Parts: sequence; structure tokens; C-alpha cells
Amino acid sequence: MDSFELNKVMGAILGTLLFTLALNIVSGGIFASHSPHKAGYEIEAKDDKGGQKQAAVEPQIPLENLLNEANPEKGASIARQCVACHDFTKGGPNKVGPNLYGVVNRDSASHEGFNYSNAMKAKKAKWTFEAIDKFLENPGKVVPGTSMTFLGLRKATDRAAVIAYLNKQADAPAPLPKPVAVNATPDAQKKDGDKKDAEKKDAPKQKDAEKKDAPAAEKKEMPAEKKDAPAPAEKKDAPAKQ
Ligand code: HEC
Repeated sequence: MDSFELNKVMGAILGTLLFTLALNIVSGGIFASHSPHKAGYEIEAKDDKGGQKQAAVEPQIPLENLLNEANPEKGASIARQCVACHDFTKGGPNKVGPNLYGVVNRDSASHEGFNYSNAMKAKKAKWTFEAIDKFLENPGKVVPGTSMTFLGLRKATDRAAVIAYLNKQADAPAPLPKPVAVNATPDAQKKDGDKKDAEKKDAPKQKDAEKKDAPAAEKKEMPAEKKDAPAPAEKKDAPAKQ
């Protein structure tokens, strides 16, 4: 191969590269490609009123099951939203809303001495677990014209917790409905598994909880544990608080 021939080859290669480059520039002009302002996809999601949308995605857990898993103590803290208008104690007063002691399975609009709205009087229903659940989700929608001006509790677990709490505010709490079998999706199975684990762990957990409730008494009896857990030592410094 002499140098002349080599030049030809090099020229051909260079030419090709130049041509490609030119093509790129020209096509770039024709098919303008905008790079996105933000990487990734925009996913549109309504965040509030998520109820309907969530329902489509999340598998709905039946109320029966939620009630069985519900924690009445959590319910009590959620029910602080109600105390501006409701008293929960036996023989307690009617406030803006009627006294709710023993409301579970009580006839609607039946509490003595409370001036119910016509809408509520017309409802003529029993406050079963389910009826309360529906009502609390959206009072104004379930009983249009109700004087309970409360937006509602959107989360099913919150409602179940409140209902579990309400159920305890009674002479004889109603028995909780039996949990129903849900299609065993992998998720559900996993949850079951978790639950079993949780049950296993229950015993020590409870002990912990007891300790928290009565730290002063237990501390003295179990000096060995103090070494492992420095936290209780703090409590020792401030026993007056207990
Ligand atoms: C702004 C005040 C207000 C708040 C907050 C409120 N309620 Fe009410 N509630 C009322 C009034 C008023 C009524 C009577 C409604 C009617 O007559 O239409 C009522 C009625 C009820 C009833 C039906 C009682 C019956 O005897 O028929 C239930 C159950 C109830 N409320 C539960 C709750 C729970 C649980 C909460 C908290 C999560 C709550 N309410 C929060 C004002 C309120």
C-alpha cells in the first residue's frame, strides 16, 4: 500500500465521519428533541379525597377485620376530635352532639334530651358497627342535612379504631364481628405471617409495656436489667413525675 492509497482510505473514512456528523446536525434540526425539564415521568395523583382512588389500588380490608385489629386506645386519641361535641361517659351530658355512651347498636336519634335534626330523626336506623363506619366516613353524605358538621374520618383504620373505642364506652360492649376470610393475596399472606410473628413477640412486648406503666416498682426488683437498659435510669432521677 503506498502513501497515496493510504490517503485515499483515510479520506474515505474521514468523509464518512463528516457525513455522519452533518446528518446528525441536520436531523437534529428537523426532529428537535427536547430534553425534559425533570427526569422521569409525571404521575398525576390527587392527594386528598384519595378515598376513591386508593380504594382502587389498595385491597379493601373488610370492616370486620379492621375492627378485630383495631386498637381502642388509638381510637380514644382519635376520638379527641369528637369531644368538642360529644361526651362519651355514662350519664354524661349532651353537648353540641348527643352523649355517645352505649351508642353502638343504639337506635339513631334516640338519646334522651337531645334535639336531633330532622334528617337524623328520619334516618331510623340502628348504629351498628357498619352504620357508624359509613356515617363517620362522611356524615353529611350519609345523612344529608345532619347537624353533625364534621368532615369525617377518611381512613378506614381510624374509623375502626374509633368504633372499637366507642364500643367500649358501654355497659356491655357488643361482641366484635368475626373476621372474614379475604382472598389470600401474597400481601395478605405476608400480613398473616407478620401477625404470627407479632403474636410470638407479644409476650416480651407486654412486659415492656408493663414496665413503662410501673417503672418505679419494677426497677427495684430487677436490678440486672438496669445495667442493660440505661433508659430507666433517667426515670430514677425524676420519680416525682410518675
Ligand atoms: C362539630 C360537632 C361534632 C363533632 C366534631 C362530631 N359530632 Fe357526632 N354529632 C354531632 C351532632 C350535632 C349530632 C346529631 C346529628 C343530627 O341530629 O343530625 C351528632 C351525631 C352523632 C352520632 C349519632 C348519634 C345518635 O344518637 O343518633 C354519632 C354516632 C356520632 N355523632 C359520632 C361522632 C364521632 C365518633 C365523632 C368523632 C370522630 C363525632 N361524632 C364528631 C356533632 C358532632
